[in-house]
Formats: sequence, structure tokens, C-alpha cells
Amino acid sequence: MTFATATAALPATLPPAAFALRDGALHCEDVPLSRIAERFGTPTYVYSKASILAAYAGYAEALAGQPALVCYAMKANPNLAIVNLLARQGSGFDIVSGGELQRVLAAGGDPAKVVFSGVGKTEAEIEAALAAGILCFNLESIAELEVVERVAARMGRRAPVSVRTNPDVDPKTHPYITTGLKSNKFGVAYADTLALYQRAAASAHLEVVGIDCHIGSQITEVQPYVDAADRVLDLVEALEHEGIRLRHVDFGGGLGIAYRDETPPAPGDLIRALRERMQARGHGGKTLMVEPGRSIVGPAGALLTRVILLKHGETRNFAVVDAAMNDLMRPALYQAWMQVLPVQTGNGVAARYDVVGPVCESGDWLARERDLAIAAGDLLVFTAAGAYGMSMASNYNTRGRAAEVMVDGSLVYEVRRRETVEELMAAESLLP
Ligand code: LLP
Repeated sequence: MTFATATAALPATLPPAAFALRDGALHCEDVPLSRIAERFGTPTYVYSKASILAAYAGYAEALAGQPALVCYAMKANPNLAIVNLLARQGSGFDIVSGGELQRVLAAGGDPAKVVFSGVGKTEAEIEAALAAGILCFNLESIAELEVVERVAARMGRRAPVSVRTNPDVDPKTHPYITTGLKSNKFGVAYADTLALYQRAAASAHLEVVGIDCHIGSQITEVQPYVDAADRVLDLVEALEHEGIRLRHVDFGGGLGIAYRDETPPAPGDLIRALRERMQARGHGGKTLMVEPGRSIVGPAGALLTRVILLKHGETRNFAVVDAAMNDLMRPALYQAWMQVLPVQTGNGVAARYDVVGPVCESGDWLARERDLAIAAGDLLVFTAAGAYGMSMASNYNTRGRAAEVMVDGSLVYEVRRRETVEELMAAESLLP
């Protein structure tokens, strides 16, 4: 057995501001996490409303005085309460499916502020988006341009389009979440972009409205954005030379958050750098757009889980918890490091643990080699889990997905109740 000597009385790393220790107990805003666990059970995703609003305001305030639109990339967390909260702030949305469009509409979002990204939009999805009157289709290939054109012609409409160009800059992030390099499936090769615009501009059923790019995710520096912006603005100028004028320039999402020891720029720093490039090059009058996902909801969310039992193995100690890879897939998929903290300090003997779920896969781990002073029955919390946590959850091992709650000061709202096994089986049927 490898017991660590240090007593983990206090967490080594501090949780994001929305989650703070008060009198030895972790709170979300004014609510002790232990109370949420009692009332809603575990595993449960907990979101801080104030944190979401502050992150959105970080973008919006830095954009004041500039024609601009923030399109929240709802793949990060598409919960209706979150979409509605952001819609009420005036946010637009970056969607990647017809399902996400339905969520925007159901949550009271404005379709005229929706951009539709993704490499494989189906005809049915394009039709629904055109009927809803979205702001723009972000085209990712010539083949897709032709499908959008065909659907628009059939409907007697002109589809607003932008071309997602690949600026081929290195965002210096994990290879699985790098999207702006030549080798990715995303976007149109930089050298081919002009030709696509000429094709679109000549079409009676397409209306060129903007240009977009997205270079990756969890980016912790401003410089790759500035490099990408310059490449994109070079294209904007080449297009103007050809008589093709754009209304908006969309720099995508990707701003990183602090999971461990990263020090990403604040949204305002990123926006100021992008505004400066737009202005310096004489494009300050165009609408500046961004598509942030993780930086809006990531720090605002945490996954609350309970220790089922402690298992002391030959070479490792395991804390088996009631959350698993189906609830939080980032560690299994990207070897992502997620901070885990005890909700209440002072229980158990300190030891070094792998925190794992009950799913039957060796890949089902949530954190490795963490020094924790815990006992069976204790509550743990994974912080900075508001983005790509619940949105990537599955039902593997017939596990209903976690509940989701939103904290607003001292109030707690259930924004998605825990899924039941009956619901999981409801769409299935036996053979006759
Ligand atoms: N716009 C486009 C076109 C995107 O593909 C993405 C994310 C975003 C915006 C939002 O990026 P964000 O601001 O959230 O970084 N599941 C991975 C992240 C995948 C990101 C995919 N695209 C993770 O858990 O790290």
C-alpha cells in the first residue's frame, strides 16, 4: 500500500471563484454542496448562475461600442436553463445540429443570432435552419456549399453564408481539440477559400455575409488568435478586391480555462486584441463575432459525487465514486486533468488515490494519484466541469444521466432531473 504522508486538510489548488470553502465546507455561491447532495442525490452537476453571467459579461463588456455578437457554442453545455439565461443577456448561439437549433428555439433564443457550424449538415437540418431564419451557415466545404444552395433553391430562398477558412495556425493545445491545422477535417483550406467565395457570390440562392474560423479549444494564449485574425483579415481584403464585401468576421471560440495551473487570458483580453487588429486594419465597422463555449460555462460548473467505497490494491488505492466516465468523459477521452476536492475536510486517513467510477472499463477513471483524506460516504467535487461534462455524458452501463442544478445566491433550481432507467428503456421494444 502506498499511503501518502501529507494530510490533505486543505485542497492544494483553489477551486474556481464560484466554488469556495466556507468554514471548512465547499459552497457554490451561498449553498453548501453537501445540502445539494442531500436534496438531489449524486452524481449531480452544479452550476453557478453568477459565474455564467460574469463570463458572458467579460465578453460583452469588452465589445461595448463595437458592432458585435457573442454566439455561445452550446455544445459545451446545451441545458435549456443555460441557453435561456444567455439568450436573456442578448447572446447568440453557435449550433452544430438540428437538435441544438430546436433547443435554441425552445429556450427563447433568437434564430437571427444563430450561426450553424459543422462539417456534415444534413438537408433536413439546413431546411429547418433556413425556415427558422438563422444568421448564417458556416460552410466547411464546396460539397456543403452545393447542398445549402440546392436546399435554398428548393425553398425559393437565399441562404446567408460564411466560409470557415483554415488559417493553419498552431493553437498549441491537445491534438484532439486542435481544429485549425491543415490536417484537420474542419474548414476550407486557406488557399481554396477565395474560390469558394467566388462560387457563392455568383449563386442566386446564396448570400455572402461573413467569414469565420475556429482554430481549436482550450487555447491559453492570445497570440494564436492574433495570427489567425491577420490571416483572416488578409482574406477579407482579397475578397473586397474582388468586389465581395462581408458584414461580419467570426473568430470562433476556443479560449481556455484554468483546470490545473494554466493561466489563460480573460475574455476581455482576447476581445481587446481582436478589436485592435480589426481597427488597425480598417475593419472596425464590421461585426466582430466570437463563439465561446468552455470559457462561458466551464468554470461555472462542478460535478458532485459520493465515495461508494475505498479499495486498497497491491500497488494503488482506489476511491470508487458514484460518478463515472459516462458522466465526465474528459479524463478517459483526453487524459484530461480535472481537479477533485473533498466537499468537507477532515475525514479519513490521507492517502494517494485513483478516483474511478463503477463502469466496467479500465479507462473509467476520473483522476489519478491524488492525495485525499477521505472515507467511504464522503462527497467529492470535480471543479471546472461545466463545459463538455454533461454535454458529453452517455448512458453506458445503463446509467441514467446525472441531475443538473443551478445555484442563484442561496437558491437552488433543478434544471434537469436525474434520468430514470424507465426513461432509458422507453424507446426500445421486444421482438414480436
Ligand atoms: N466554434 C466551433 C466551430 C467549435 O468547433 C467549437 C468547439 C467552439 C466554437 C467552442 O469552443 P470552446 O470555446 O468551447 O473551446 N470536448 C472537448 C472540446 C471540443 C471542442 C469542439 N469545438 C473538450 O472537452 O475539451
